[in-house]
Amino acid sequence: MSSLYTYPGFELLLHDIVRAENCHVYDAQDRRWVDLESGVWCTPLGHTHPRVVRALVEQASRIAHTGYAYTCAVVEEAAREVLGLLGLDGGRCVFLCSGSEAIEYGVRIAQAVLERPLLMTMSDSYFGAYGSAQRRHQDEWFSFDWLPCGDCQADETCGATCPRFAAIPFERIGGFLFEPGSSSGLVRFPPQKLIASIARAVTEADGLILVNEVTTGIGRTGRWFGFEHYGLAPDIVALGKGLGNGYPVAVTAVAPAAAARLGERTIKYAQSHQNDPLGAAVAREVLRTIREENWIERGREMGALLLEGLEAIKAQSGRIRDLRARGLMLAVELEGDAETALEAQRELVRRGFIVARRPGLSVLRIDPALTVERADVEAFLATFEEVLREIPAAS
Ligand SMILES: Cc1ncc(COP(=O)(O)O)c(C=O)c1O
Repeated sequence: MSSLYTYPGFELLLHDIVRAENCHVYDAQDRRWVDLESGVWCTPLGHTHPRVVRALVEQASRIAHTGYAYTCAVVEEAAREVLGLLGLDGGRCVFLCSGSEAIEYGVRIAQAVLERPLLMTMSDSYFGAYGSAQRRHQDEWFSFDWLPCGDCQADETCGATCPRFAAIPFERIGGFLFEPGSSSGLVRFPPQKLIASIARAVTEADGLILVNEVTTGIGRTGRWFGFEHYGLAPDIVALGKGLGNGYPVAVTAVAPAAAARLGERTIKYAQSHQNDPLGAAVAREVLRTIREENWIERGREMGALLLEGLEAIKAQSGRIRDLRARGLMLAVELEGDAETALEAQRELVRRGFIVARRPGLSVLRIDPALTVERADVEAFLATFEEVLREIPAAS
Protein backbone atom coordinates (compact mmCIF):
# COMPACT_ATOMS: atom_id res chain seq x y z
CA MET A 1 0.00 0.00 0.00
CA SER A 2 1.29 3.46 -0.84
CA SER A 3 2.06 5.92 1.94
CA LEU A 4 0.83 8.78 -0.25
CA TYR A 5 -2.51 10.43 -0.80
CA THR A 6 -3.19 11.20 -4.44
CA TYR A 7 -5.87 13.10 -6.30
CA PRO A 8 -8.93 10.91 -7.02
CA GLY A 9 -9.93 9.84 -10.50
CA PHE A 10 -6.46 9.51 -11.96
CA GLU A 11 -4.64 6.22 -12.46
CA LEU A 12 -0.96 6.20 -11.55
CA LEU A 13 0.46 4.43 -14.59
CA LEU A 14 4.20 4.77 -14.03
CA HIS A 15 5.70 4.21 -10.58
CA ASP A 16 9.42 4.53 -10.95
CA ILE A 17 10.37 7.51 -13.08
CA VAL A 18 13.89 8.49 -12.08
CA ARG A 19 14.93 11.24 -14.47
CA ALA A 20 13.79 13.42 -17.36
CA GLU A 21 15.12 15.51 -20.20
CA ASN A 22 12.92 17.87 -22.20
CA CYS A 23 9.81 15.79 -23.08
CA HIS A 24 11.40 12.44 -22.28
CA VAL A 25 11.01 10.75 -18.91
CA TYR A 26 12.94 7.60 -17.97
CA ASP A 27 12.39 4.83 -15.45
CA ALA A 28 15.00 2.95 -13.43
CA GLN A 29 15.50 0.49 -16.32
CA ASP A 30 16.11 3.43 -18.66
CA ARG A 31 12.84 2.85 -20.50
CA ARG A 32 11.66 6.09 -22.08
CA TRP A 33 8.27 7.81 -22.39
CA VAL A 34 7.37 10.97 -24.26
CA ASP A 35 5.57 13.33 -21.88
CA LEU A 36 2.87 15.09 -23.91
CA GLU A 37 1.11 16.28 -20.75
CA SER A 38 3.89 18.56 -19.40
CA GLY A 39 3.31 17.21 -15.92
CA VAL A 40 0.18 19.09 -14.87
CA TRP A 41 0.60 21.53 -17.83
CA CYS A 42 3.58 22.93 -15.94
CA THR A 43 6.72 22.53 -18.05
CA PRO A 44 6.66 24.77 -21.15
CA LEU A 45 10.44 24.34 -21.51
CA GLY A 46 10.31 20.60 -20.94
CA HIS A 47 11.84 18.89 -17.93
CA THR A 48 15.26 19.91 -16.58
CA HIS A 49 15.92 22.75 -19.04
CA PRO A 50 19.61 23.58 -18.40
CA ARG A 51 19.07 27.34 -18.03
CA VAL A 52 16.25 26.86 -15.53
CA VAL A 53 18.19 24.24 -13.56
CA ARG A 54 21.22 26.56 -13.45
CA ALA A 55 19.15 29.52 -12.23
CA LEU A 56 17.52 27.34 -9.57
CA VAL A 57 20.78 25.90 -8.29
CA GLU A 58 22.58 29.26 -8.33
CA GLN A 59 19.81 31.03 -6.43
CA ALA A 60 19.32 28.14 -3.98
CA SER A 61 23.02 28.19 -3.20
CA ARG A 62 22.87 31.94 -2.47
CA ILE A 63 19.55 32.34 -0.64
CA ALA A 64 16.24 30.58 -1.23
CA HIS A 65 13.95 32.30 1.24
CA THR A 66 13.77 35.66 2.99
CA GLY A 67 11.62 37.06 5.77
CA TYR A 68 9.73 40.30 6.41
CA ALA A 69 12.88 42.29 7.19
CA TYR A 70 15.01 41.76 4.10
CA THR A 71 14.69 40.88 0.43
CA CYS A 72 16.83 40.44 -2.71
CA ALA A 73 17.07 42.44 -5.92
CA VAL A 74 16.18 39.36 -7.99
CA VAL A 75 12.57 39.52 -6.76
CA GLU A 76 12.14 43.10 -7.91
CA GLU A 77 13.81 42.24 -11.25
CA ALA A 78 11.53 39.23 -11.74
CA ALA A 79 8.48 41.40 -10.98
CA ARG A 80 9.58 43.89 -13.67
CA GLU A 81 10.09 41.03 -16.13
CA VAL A 82 6.55 39.72 -15.47
CA LEU A 83 4.93 43.16 -15.65
CA GLY A 84 6.82 44.07 -18.83
CA LEU A 85 5.72 40.90 -20.60
CA LEU A 86 2.12 41.50 -19.59
CA GLY A 87 2.28 45.12 -20.80
CA LEU A 88 1.67 46.27 -17.23
CA ASP A 89 4.87 48.28 -16.65
CA GLY A 90 4.55 50.42 -13.56
CA GLY A 91 2.15 47.98 -11.92
CA ARG A 92 2.82 45.64 -9.00
CA CYS A 93 3.30 41.92 -8.39
CA VAL A 94 3.38 39.37 -5.64
CA PHE A 95 5.10 36.00 -6.01
CA LEU A 96 3.30 33.05 -4.44
CA CYS A 97 3.49 29.26 -4.75
CA SER A 98 0.41 28.05 -6.66
CA GLY A 99 -2.12 29.14 -9.22
CA SER A 100 -4.93 28.83 -6.67
CA GLU A 101 -3.14 31.36 -4.49
CA ALA A 102 -2.44 33.76 -7.33
CA ILE A 103 -6.15 33.85 -8.15
CA GLU A 104 -7.20 34.20 -4.52
CA TYR A 105 -4.81 37.11 -4.07
CA GLY A 106 -6.17 38.82 -7.19
CA VAL A 107 -9.75 38.31 -6.01
CA ARG A 108 -8.89 39.83 -2.64
CA ILE A 109 -7.39 42.90 -4.31
CA ALA A 110 -10.51 43.27 -6.44
CA GLN A 111 -12.78 42.87 -3.43
CA ALA A 112 -10.75 45.48 -1.55
CA VAL A 113 -11.24 48.16 -4.23
CA LEU A 114 -14.61 47.41 -5.80
CA GLU A 115 -17.81 49.06 -4.74
CA ARG A 116 -20.18 46.59 -6.38
CA PRO A 117 -20.45 43.35 -4.41
CA LEU A 118 -20.27 40.65 -7.09
CA LEU A 119 -17.56 39.19 -9.28
CA MET A 120 -18.75 37.55 -12.46
CA THR A 121 -17.27 34.39 -13.93
CA MET A 122 -18.18 31.53 -16.25
CA SER A 123 -19.86 28.55 -14.63
CA ASP A 124 -17.44 26.03 -16.20
CA SER A 125 -14.23 27.75 -15.13
CA TYR A 126 -11.84 26.34 -12.53
CA PHE A 127 -9.76 28.65 -10.38
CA GLY A 128 -8.07 26.38 -7.91
CA ALA A 129 -8.35 24.27 -4.86
CA TYR A 130 -9.40 26.88 -2.34
CA GLY A 131 -10.38 30.49 -1.77
CA SER A 132 -13.35 32.62 -2.71
CA ALA A 133 -13.26 31.74 -6.42
CA GLN A 134 -13.35 28.06 -5.59
CA ARG A 135 -16.23 28.39 -3.12
CA ARG A 136 -18.27 30.70 -5.40
CA HIS A 137 -20.60 31.85 -2.68
CA GLN A 138 -23.61 33.56 -4.25
CA ASP A 139 -23.10 36.69 -2.14
CA GLU A 140 -19.75 37.14 -3.87
CA TRP A 141 -20.12 35.53 -7.29
CA PHE A 142 -22.37 35.60 -10.32
CA SER A 143 -21.74 32.54 -12.53
CA PHE A 144 -22.73 32.68 -16.19
CA ASP A 145 -23.27 29.62 -18.37
CA TRP A 146 -21.74 30.66 -21.69
CA LEU A 147 -22.17 27.30 -23.47
CA PRO A 148 -25.49 28.24 -25.16
CA CYS A 149 -23.65 31.31 -26.57
CA GLY A 150 -21.08 29.04 -28.26
CA ASP A 151 -23.05 28.74 -31.49
CA CYS A 152 -24.72 32.16 -31.38
CA GLN A 153 -25.36 33.39 -34.93
CA ALA A 154 -26.44 36.94 -34.06
CA ASP A 155 -24.43 39.64 -35.86
CA GLU A 156 -24.81 42.39 -33.32
CA THR A 157 -22.74 42.57 -30.13
CA CYS A 158 -24.29 41.04 -27.03
CA GLY A 159 -26.69 43.49 -25.42
CA ALA A 160 -30.26 44.25 -24.45
CA THR A 161 -31.69 42.34 -27.43
CA CYS A 162 -30.33 39.06 -26.05
CA PRO A 163 -32.38 37.83 -23.07
CA ARG A 164 -29.45 35.83 -21.67
CA PHE A 165 -27.11 38.81 -21.77
CA ALA A 166 -29.80 41.20 -20.54
CA ALA A 167 -30.29 38.98 -17.48
CA ILE A 168 -26.70 39.51 -16.29
CA PRO A 169 -26.95 41.78 -13.20
CA PHE A 170 -24.21 44.23 -14.26
CA GLU A 171 -25.56 46.80 -11.79
CA ARG A 172 -24.24 44.53 -9.00
CA ILE A 173 -21.07 43.29 -10.74
CA GLY A 174 -17.75 44.95 -9.93
CA GLY A 175 -15.34 42.64 -11.73
CA PHE A 176 -15.08 39.83 -14.25
CA LEU A 177 -12.74 36.91 -13.61
CA PHE A 178 -12.08 35.33 -16.98
CA GLU A 179 -10.35 32.06 -17.78
CA PRO A 180 -9.48 32.18 -21.49
CA GLY A 181 -9.82 28.58 -22.46
CA SER A 182 -9.46 25.79 -19.95
CA SER A 183 -13.09 25.18 -18.99
CA SER A 184 -12.13 22.85 -16.14
CA GLY A 185 -9.67 21.00 -18.31
CA LEU A 186 -12.03 20.52 -21.25
CA VAL A 187 -10.27 23.06 -23.47
CA ARG A 188 -13.24 25.14 -24.57
CA PHE A 189 -12.93 28.76 -25.64
CA PRO A 190 -15.73 31.23 -24.87
CA PRO A 191 -16.69 33.36 -27.91
CA GLN A 192 -14.81 36.63 -28.42
CA LYS A 193 -17.97 38.66 -28.95
CA LEU A 194 -19.39 37.60 -25.60
CA ILE A 195 -16.16 38.27 -23.72
CA ALA A 196 -15.69 41.67 -25.36
CA SER A 197 -19.29 42.60 -24.48
CA ILE A 198 -18.93 41.51 -20.84
CA ALA A 199 -15.57 43.27 -20.52
CA ARG A 200 -17.06 46.47 -21.96
CA ALA A 201 -20.02 46.42 -19.59
CA VAL A 202 -17.76 45.80 -16.60
CA THR A 203 -15.12 48.41 -17.45
CA GLU A 204 -17.70 51.06 -18.39
CA ALA A 205 -19.00 50.73 -14.83
CA ASP A 206 -15.44 51.27 -13.52
CA GLY A 207 -15.04 47.56 -12.76
CA LEU A 208 -11.97 45.35 -13.04
CA ILE A 209 -11.01 42.61 -15.48
CA LEU A 210 -9.17 39.74 -13.81
CA VAL A 211 -7.65 37.03 -15.98
CA ASN A 212 -6.70 33.53 -14.90
CA GLU A 213 -3.67 32.62 -17.01
CA VAL A 214 -2.60 29.74 -14.79
CA THR A 215 -3.18 27.22 -17.58
CA THR A 216 -3.37 29.38 -20.70
CA GLY A 217 -0.35 31.58 -19.95
CA ILE A 218 3.36 31.22 -20.75
CA GLY A 219 2.85 30.30 -24.40
CA ARG A 220 0.38 27.44 -24.02
CA THR A 221 -2.14 28.87 -26.52
CA GLY A 222 0.36 29.98 -29.17
CA ARG A 223 0.71 33.46 -27.68
CA TRP A 224 2.28 34.51 -24.41
CA PHE A 225 -1.12 34.83 -22.74
CA GLY A 226 -4.59 33.51 -23.49
CA PHE A 227 -6.18 36.95 -23.06
CA GLU A 228 -4.31 38.13 -26.17
CA HIS A 229 -6.74 36.09 -28.29
CA TYR A 230 -9.53 38.27 -26.88
CA GLY A 231 -7.94 41.71 -27.22
CA LEU A 232 -8.46 42.30 -23.49
CA ALA A 233 -6.53 44.76 -21.35
CA PRO A 234 -6.60 43.04 -17.95
CA ASP A 235 -6.32 44.84 -14.63
CA ILE A 236 -5.18 41.79 -12.68
CA VAL A 237 -3.52 38.65 -14.03
CA ALA A 238 -2.81 35.38 -12.21
CA LEU A 239 0.04 33.24 -13.53
CA GLY A 240 1.21 29.86 -12.24
CA LYS A 241 2.03 26.40 -13.59
CA GLY A 242 4.37 27.11 -16.55
CA LEU A 243 5.88 30.14 -14.85
CA GLY A 244 8.12 27.88 -12.76
CA ASN A 245 8.61 25.13 -15.37
CA GLY A 246 7.96 22.57 -12.62
CA TYR A 247 9.08 24.66 -9.67
CA PRO A 248 6.07 25.87 -7.61
CA VAL A 249 5.93 29.60 -8.23
CA ALA A 250 2.96 31.78 -9.18
CA VAL A 251 2.34 35.48 -9.47
CA THR A 252 -0.48 37.97 -9.18
CA ALA A 253 0.26 40.97 -11.40
CA VAL A 254 -1.69 44.21 -11.12
CA ALA A 255 -1.91 46.97 -13.73
CA PRO A 256 -0.78 50.47 -12.69
CA ALA A 257 -4.30 51.94 -12.53
CA ALA A 258 -5.67 49.06 -10.45
CA ALA A 259 -2.58 49.19 -8.22
CA ALA A 260 -3.23 52.92 -7.73
CA ARG A 261 -6.80 52.12 -6.64
CA LEU A 262 -5.41 49.85 -3.96
CA GLY A 263 -2.86 52.52 -3.05
CA GLU A 264 -0.71 51.62 -0.08
CA ARG A 265 -3.38 49.35 1.38
CA THR A 266 -1.99 45.83 1.72
CA ILE A 267 -3.69 42.49 1.38
CA LYS A 268 -3.50 40.44 4.57
CA TYR A 269 -2.67 37.13 3.02
CA ALA A 270 -0.48 35.14 5.38
CA GLN A 271 1.78 32.78 3.48
CA SER A 272 5.41 32.07 4.36
CA HIS A 273 6.85 32.08 0.84
CA GLN A 274 5.58 35.36 -0.60
CA ASN A 275 8.24 36.94 -2.80
CA ASP A 276 10.81 34.25 -2.11
CA PRO A 277 13.96 34.82 -4.19
CA LEU A 278 14.16 31.19 -5.30
CA GLY A 279 10.77 31.19 -7.04
CA ALA A 280 11.38 34.66 -8.46
CA ALA A 281 14.77 33.66 -9.89
CA VAL A 282 13.25 30.59 -11.54
CA ALA A 283 10.32 32.57 -12.97
CA ARG A 284 12.64 35.25 -14.35
CA GLU A 285 14.80 32.65 -16.08
CA VAL A 286 11.80 30.77 -17.51
CA LEU A 287 10.43 33.98 -19.04
CA ARG A 288 13.82 35.07 -20.38
CA THR A 289 14.55 31.66 -21.86
CA ILE A 290 11.20 31.47 -23.65
CA ARG A 291 11.65 35.00 -25.00
CA GLU A 292 15.31 34.76 -26.00
CA GLU A 293 15.00 31.30 -27.56
CA ASN A 294 11.72 32.06 -29.41
CA TRP A 295 9.80 29.15 -27.95
CA ILE A 296 6.34 30.71 -28.36
CA GLU A 297 6.65 30.69 -32.13
CA ARG A 298 8.02 27.15 -32.07
CA GLY A 299 5.14 26.01 -29.83
CA ARG A 300 2.66 27.48 -32.31
CA GLU A 301 4.26 25.44 -35.11
CA MET A 302 4.13 22.21 -33.10
CA GLY A 303 0.51 22.95 -32.17
CA ALA A 304 -0.40 23.33 -35.85
CA LEU A 305 1.38 20.06 -36.68
CA LEU A 306 -0.48 18.20 -33.93
CA LEU A 307 -3.84 19.64 -34.90
CA GLU A 308 -3.36 18.82 -38.56
CA GLY A 309 -2.41 15.23 -37.69
CA LEU A 310 -5.31 14.81 -35.28
CA GLU A 311 -7.76 16.21 -37.82
CA ALA A 312 -6.56 13.63 -40.34
CA ILE A 313 -7.00 10.85 -37.74
CA LYS A 314 -10.47 12.18 -36.92
CA ALA A 315 -11.47 12.12 -40.59
CA GLN A 316 -10.12 8.58 -41.17
CA SER A 317 -10.90 6.76 -37.95
CA GLY A 318 -14.40 7.85 -37.03
CA ARG A 319 -13.28 7.41 -33.41
CA ILE A 320 -12.96 11.11 -32.54
CA ARG A 321 -16.14 13.01 -31.70
CA ASP A 322 -14.62 16.44 -31.26
CA LEU A 323 -11.26 18.16 -31.38
CA ARG A 324 -10.60 21.47 -29.65
CA ALA A 325 -7.28 23.25 -29.79
CA ARG A 326 -5.43 26.50 -29.46
CA GLY A 327 -1.65 26.38 -29.73
CA LEU A 328 -0.36 23.48 -27.66
CA MET A 329 -3.55 23.09 -25.68
CA LEU A 330 -5.53 20.29 -27.30
CA ALA A 331 -8.48 18.17 -26.24
CA VAL A 332 -9.56 15.04 -28.07
CA GLU A 333 -13.05 13.87 -27.27
CA LEU A 334 -13.36 10.22 -28.22
CA GLU A 335 -16.48 8.41 -29.33
CA GLY A 336 -17.51 6.18 -26.44
CA ASP A 337 -17.33 6.72 -22.72
CA ALA A 338 -14.74 7.38 -20.03
CA GLU A 339 -13.58 3.74 -20.25
CA THR A 340 -12.61 4.24 -23.90
CA ALA A 341 -10.44 7.22 -23.00
CA LEU A 342 -8.88 5.30 -20.11
CA GLU A 343 -8.11 2.36 -22.39
CA ALA A 344 -6.60 4.68 -25.03
CA GLN A 345 -4.46 6.38 -22.38
CA ARG A 346 -3.25 3.06 -20.95
CA GLU A 347 -2.41 1.78 -24.42
CA LEU A 348 -0.53 4.97 -25.30
CA VAL A 349 1.51 4.66 -22.12
CA ARG A 350 2.27 1.01 -22.97
CA ARG A 351 3.63 2.28 -26.30
CA GLY A 352 5.70 5.09 -24.79
CA PHE A 353 3.46 8.19 -24.77
CA ILE A 354 1.98 10.05 -21.81
CA VAL A 355 -1.17 12.08 -22.47
CA ALA A 356 -3.58 13.58 -19.97
CA ARG A 357 -7.09 12.33 -19.35
CA ARG A 358 -10.10 14.07 -17.89
CA PRO A 359 -11.48 11.62 -15.28
CA GLY A 360 -15.05 10.49 -15.85
CA LEU A 361 -15.18 11.74 -19.45
CA SER A 362 -14.08 10.45 -22.81
CA VAL A 363 -11.55 13.27 -23.14
CA LEU A 364 -7.80 13.04 -23.66
CA ARG A 365 -5.69 16.16 -23.44
CA ILE A 366 -2.45 16.77 -25.23
CA ASP A 367 -0.40 19.64 -23.83
CA PRO A 368 3.26 19.12 -24.65
CA ALA A 369 6.06 21.52 -23.85
CA LEU A 370 6.81 24.28 -26.36
CA THR A 371 10.12 22.48 -26.79
CA VAL A 372 8.61 19.18 -27.91
CA GLU A 373 10.56 17.56 -30.72
CA ARG A 374 8.93 17.26 -34.13
CA ALA A 375 9.93 13.57 -34.31
CA ASP A 376 8.05 12.91 -31.06
CA VAL A 377 4.92 14.65 -32.36
CA GLU A 378 5.05 12.60 -35.56
CA ALA A 379 5.67 9.34 -33.68
CA PHE A 380 2.78 10.13 -31.33
CA LEU A 381 0.37 10.77 -34.21
CA ALA A 382 1.28 7.46 -35.86
CA THR A 383 0.89 5.59 -32.54
CA PHE A 384 -2.40 7.29 -31.66
CA GLU A 385 -3.83 6.36 -35.03
CA GLU A 386 -2.81 2.70 -34.39
CA VAL A 387 -4.24 2.74 -30.86
CA LEU A 388 -7.59 4.07 -32.05
CA ARG A 389 -7.68 1.39 -34.71
CA GLU A 390 -6.93 -1.37 -32.19
CA ILE A 391 -8.84 -0.57 -29.00
CA PRO A 392 -12.41 -1.86 -29.00
CA ALA A 393 -15.16 0.62 -29.86
CA ALA A 394 -17.74 1.20 -27.12
CA SER A 395 -20.78 -1.03 -27.71
C1 LIG B 1 -7.43 26.94 -15.10
C2 LIG B 1 -6.77 26.72 -13.77
N1 LIG B 1 -6.73 27.71 -12.89
C3 LIG B 1 -6.15 27.56 -11.66
C4 LIG B 1 -5.58 26.37 -11.29
C5 LIG B 1 -4.97 26.23 -9.93
O1 LIG B 1 -3.60 26.13 -10.00
P1 LIG B 1 -2.78 25.31 -8.89
O2 LIG B 1 -3.16 23.88 -9.04
O3 LIG B 1 -1.36 25.62 -9.21
O4 LIG B 1 -3.18 25.86 -7.56
C6 LIG B 1 -5.60 25.30 -12.19
C7 LIG B 1 -5.01 24.01 -11.82
O5 LIG B 1 -5.10 23.02 -12.51
C8 LIG B 1 -6.22 25.48 -13.47
O6 LIG B 1 -6.27 24.49 -14.36
